[in-house]
Amino acid sequence: METGHRRRREREHDESPLDPTYDHAAVAAVLEAHGRDAGRLLPILHDVQAHFGHVPRGSVRQLARALGRSRAEIHGVVGFYLDLRWEPAGRRTLRLCVAESCQAAGVRALVPLVEELVGCRLGETTLDGAVTLEAAYCLGLCACSPAALLDDETVVGRLDESGVRELVAAARAEQ
Ligand code: FES
Repeated sequence: METGHRRRREREHDESPLDPTYDHAAVAAVLEAHGRDAGRLLPILHDVQAHFGHVPRGSVRQLARALGRSRAEIHGVVGFYLDLRWEPAGRRTLRLCVAESCQAAGVRALVPLVEELVGCRLGETTLDGAVTLEAAYCLGLCACSPAALLDDETVVGRLDESGVRELVAAARAEQ
């Protein structure tokens, strides 16, 4: 009886609209597309983000249950990967490549300047919702490292300090 009550309470909690961006059916569809394979947690999270624009916090319990993972694990994975986010993206998205070739070309030294000029850290969105700053893991522009991508449209290579200033000004300009 106690167990039944507990289960019902948990089910009601799962289905409660605590997170208005969460849609149980949409997450279920993503899980089915991946065969509810716990080994595919990362691509599942990316597909959830592709659907909602972010990983809704309300989806964590559903994902954990379906995949036999703990909620802490789901939180840990989303928190670890800078390209996954809990909140909706800003109006513009600036992706700075931090993969091997761009690191060798000095992107790490540019990160503090980018963060200062944009007004938030990698993996965050500015308070005014204007720009989301994300890390990317190779943009296919290794020959022009360090590289960045604005709004999945504008690629910029061989970034240096002045290039960063121009890029951030473009990201900050209203379209
Ligand atoms: S490593 Fe940065 S573009 Fe390939």
